Amino acid sequence: MSSKEHPIVTKYKNFSPTSENLAVKAKKVFPGGDTRASAHYSPYPLSISEASGCVLTDVDGNQILDFMNNFTSLIHGHAHPQIVDSVQRQISLGSAYAAPSKNQIELAELITERIPSVEQMRFTSSGTESTTMAIRCSRAATGRQKIMKMEGGYHGSYEMAEVSLAPFPKTRGDLEEPNSLPVDGSFPDSVLEDTVICPYNQPSMAEALIEKYASELAAIIVEPVLGSMGMVPATKEFLQALRDSATKHSIILIFDEVISLRIDQGGAQSFFDITPDLTCMGKIIGGGLPVGAIGGKSELMKLFSPEMPEPVMHASTFSGNALTMSAGLPAMRAFDEKECNRINDLAEKLRTGFNQAFSQAKILGNANGIGSLTNINFSNKPSNDSRDFMDGLYASKHIGNLLHLTMLRNGVMSASRLMFCTSTAMTEKEIEKAITALHESLSELRPFVEEECPNLVT
Ligand SMILES: Cc1ncc(COP(=O)(O)O)c(C=O)c1O
Repeated sequence: MSSKEHPIVTKYKNFSPTSENLAVKAKKVFPGGDTRASAHYSPYPLSISEASGCVLTDVDGNQILDFMNNFTSLIHGHAHPQIVDSVQRQISLGSAYAAPSKNQIELAELITERIPSVEQMRFTSSGTESTTMAIRCSRAATGRQKIMKMEGGYHGSYEMAEVSLAPFPKTRGDLEEPNSLPVDGSFPDSVLEDTVICPYNQPSMAEALIEKYASELAAIIVEPVLGSMGMVPATKEFLQALRDSATKHSIILIFDEVISLRIDQGGAQSFFDITPDLTCMGKIIGGGLPVGAIGGKSELMKLFSPEMPEPVMHASTFSGNALTMSAGLPAMRAFDEKECNRINDLAEKLRTGFNQAFSQAKILGNANGIGSLTNINFSNKPSNDSRDFMDGLYASKHIGNLLHLTMLRNGVMSASRLMFCTSTAMTEKEIEKAITALHESLSELRPFVEEECPNLVT
């Protein structure tokens, strides 16, 4: 491509002039113009002024359907009336007490009832903090150092949680034993050495690797749905192999359900009927406010007990704060089995419609996912692991970015990596609108695909 501005980018700029002006100001105060890497996209993200239900209004007054839902955390979309009432009531009573509150216990009771493996739990302020504490708990319980994580797995914003997040074709190594790769220049060698990378959805390779490192492994941490790398569901056989090997070698099995909790009332562990030792949670349980939680067997969770002689240290100023609890409790109550099934069905219709749109447009692409979680990938088959997803990203060059910008102009917001999730604020009407938007976007992009990325033409 030449350095001349792409016509699709020009159209996006014409659609969002006030966002562009704000982006200029943002660049002065934030490196690269953003305060959050995952929410950034080029040439600049839309600035949002308000949101209600499943509709975002940007600063130019454009109304856009929100299929991103703050990276899957808003199970009811925005400003759900019961959550708004509850938070308004709570804020007038104070936001954080550094003392127990009734709503903490009630939310924990709801979660422990829904997820049988979570016998006891601790709230944290983020998913990042929850996976950190799960790893520390595992090390304290086993006296071992190394952690096994999946290639392409994401567990938060710190080094160990991000090792080999992006398996680039040139550096990722053999599938049987992938390289332990940093994602940036901040990774100490010790973290890379202490993180064993496991290929996703490869049961026998996983068993062999666990066998090899068994005596050094404190924990195996896995997302039952690979979130950042294309919403790739694990197979039951894979999770079962991890479960059996972990049990055999007394390794703690951690399910990171920060995203996947939304696919079933009891999370992905209930969907797959496989029980981890520890579960990390976040996103939906906070009703839209910052949150995380770690839970599991009492025998492990007791390591956090302040009544133990040397508990695993877990402080955290905002853990279990009354305001987040006041949002999470009505959110989780309203997310009952009926609503969970309904938004899963909506997402299934979305995937079917998206797949038809790609085949009609004769552009290589598919919508993969599970439950209410969907991701578009530029490939002729659903991804089985993060390598498949990365290969699709490579093959599609800048086309994913152009599709994202075009979908925004056509009134549909997804994550820039083309992740879509449904919320209870949606009905069939919004699904149809999103499918129509994809048809229109692909037909607008078709000439550019032919010219700039002909390998995607079918
Ligand atoms: C699977 C998974 N684990 C952990 C995290 C980290 O959660 P947080 O951003 O709340 O720290 C995320 C965030 O997207 C996630 O997707």
